[in-house]
Amino acid sequence: MIIAPSLLAANFSRFAHEVERVQRAGAEWLHLDIMDGHFVPNISFGPEVVRVLRPQTKIFFDTHLMCSKPEVLIETFAKFGSDQITVHVELGERVLPLLWKIKSLGKKVGLAVNPPTAISQAEPYLKQIDLLLIMTVNPGFGGQPFIAETLPKMQQAAAWRRERGLEYRIEVDGGINFATAADCARAGADTFVSGTALFGKKQMGAALRKMQAIVEAAKPAE
Ligand code: DX5
Ligand code: ZN
Repeated sequence: MIIAPSLLAANFSRFAHEVERVQRAGAEWLHLDIMDGHFVPNISFGPEVVRVLRPQTKIFFDTHLMCSKPEVLIETFAKFGSDQITVHVELGERVLPLLWKIKSLGKKVGLAVNPPTAISQAEPYLKQIDLLLIMTVNPGFGGQPFIAETLPKMQQAAAWRRERGLEYRIEVDGGINFATAADCARAGADTFVSGTALFGKKQMGAALRKMQAIVEAAKPAE
């Protein structure tokens, strides 16, 4: 099980310090929410943040592109040090070439599904991906309430993975705290993006370890 603190919830005036904090907290992944102000009604930060933070840490850069034209950004993120790049299934028939592009750059491939989007939209791509990101809020802002109606999507994703002998990770993102992380783990999620619930704590390490213990305990038997 992996907990991935989301940089979106960090203090934007002190990214280097905040990544230090994530590192000290023992996180293995850092989730980078890239927003273009078009696919979502917000703008966060771009590839330059990956470039300047990369030399500071070996931590896995899990890069979530909430962007309408990710094709113009993928190469730059890959060059600057993203380890995984996730694009949204809502981009329709443009998705497959994007997934192959990410793979051709030697990066892990992620596919994200928004709450209103049926999980069946992701089914054609399951063999091409390393990670399926089931959004548990409508993307654009941190600190939103968890959408419980997304839980059956995790169950479906876990069933497909089991039945078809696939190995993609099931990631959840949005409103993930100690309680909702347990619900998602029970439903089959194994990778947990959390911003507010972790960055809002004085002791991020203790909070991360507590969330890790909660999801490990809630994990369904194989
Ligand atoms: C939504 C963002 C958020 C962020 C984490 O577009 O992707 O989900 O990562 O948000 P909170 O603060 O709810 O953990
Ligand atoms: Zn995200």
